Amino acid sequence: MPTATQFVPGLEGIVAVQTKLSHVDGQKGRLIVGGYSIEELAGKVSFEEAAELLWTGTLPSSKESSSFRKELAELRTIRPETLELIKVARHSPPIDALRMACATLSLDLSNPNDISPAADLAVAKRLTARFPTVVAAHARLRQGHDPIAPRSDLGMAENFLYMVFGEVPHPAVAKALDTYWTTVMDHGMNASTFAARVIASTRSDMVSAVTGAVGALKGPLHGGAPGPVLDMLVDIQSADRAEAWLKNELNAGRRIMGFGHRVYKVRDPRAEVLSKTAEALAGADLRNRKLYDLARAVEKTALKVLDEAKPGRNLKTNVEFYTALVLQSAGLVPDQFVAMFACGRAAGWCAHVMEQHAQDRLIRPQSEYLGPQNLVVSR
Ligand code: COA
Repeated sequence: MPTATQFVPGLEGIVAVQTKLSHVDGQKGRLIVGGYSIEELAGKVSFEEAAELLWTGTLPSSKESSSFRKELAELRTIRPETLELIKVARHSPPIDALRMACATLSLDLSNPNDISPAADLAVAKRLTARFPTVVAAHARLRQGHDPIAPRSDLGMAENFLYMVFGEVPHPAVAKALDTYWTTVMDHGMNASTFAARVIASTRSDMVSAVTGAVGALKGPLHGGAPGPVLDMLVDIQSADRAEAWLKNELNAGRRIMGFGHRVYKVRDPRAEVLSKTAEALAGADLRNRKLYDLARAVEKTALKVLDEAKPGRNLKTNVEFYTALVLQSAGLVPDQFVAMFACGRAAGWCAHVMEQHAQDRLIRPQSEYLGPQNLVVSR
């Protein structure tokens, strides 16, 4: 039996879980997902194939992949009750609407409490297939348009953009979104994945665990950063204003969004993948190209300013910085970014819930009591 340890704020450095799903090497700047480096997977296999890798442990052959992809595609339609709820929540931020809608996704399960491996896999497919449908329906409804029904002949990213904009997207845009979702699908013991695993560890069901994870993702210290990154770039306007703007933020005691990471002490490898994706997507489009060039300049200045302000902290570019550019170039707006993150991370959350259910060990740490003791009720 391990002995009780000291209080570690934020559980920093504590190994709370053993997993075969992903590994984050913060010193070398490496992310391994299902045995592959993220650079090897993202953009080379589809998001659906990468999800299958996480859920089954094996990357499918191209023949197997098409049947799995078809199966996911046929699960995209959401129930009328879920759609009704999205209508009610249409003026809420997309991530809140997604959290509410996620909870309704157990409605058509014959036994929502079944946490056997087969039942978990079936739920993982449904949740991952339906998240984009929920986000797209919300995007349409809040603009006063009717939702567009999913098409099962399109890939997941392609279909999502079709459901939002009403036309099949340019292949390069669909590819960029697909690459983004694969890039963010799993990332060690991040806060939302840990939240999902804590819930699953009580033998609670996958829908409950993933609903909790959506809530954990939303905060600006986790998945909520890319919206503010875009706001920052828009506010900075031009590279020559970056240094003064960034210093002003730091002097006001605010953090620079898109920089710093609990584990990475070098550049986040996902930032590398997504900066290339953003650059390719910007291509010849003048507006996107200008934003991409500005982002590169702001990144360079931010690294310098952060190093001067917080020496030795190794605050480097994280995944959210270039996420903002990729999603903006795909036509999405900042308050949708964290919901887009959830659509990709859903595959990872589901995989962790399956792993946690298989390990079947309640996660229950201790606390250090700081309050008074031996008080007496005087009445
Ligand atoms: N801008 C300015 N200062 C930052 C910073 C940032 N982005 N990130 C960390 N710091 C500073 C902290 O203020 C702290 O300074 P101090 O020791 O002088 O008080 C120091 O660096 C260490 O920060 P700490 O909060 O202990 O690091 P953490 O491991 O808890 O933080 C993040 C990790 C991601 C929460 C943090 O880097 C952050 O808030 N980044 C901005 C939000 C973001 O991009 N989130 C997406 C993460 S993928």
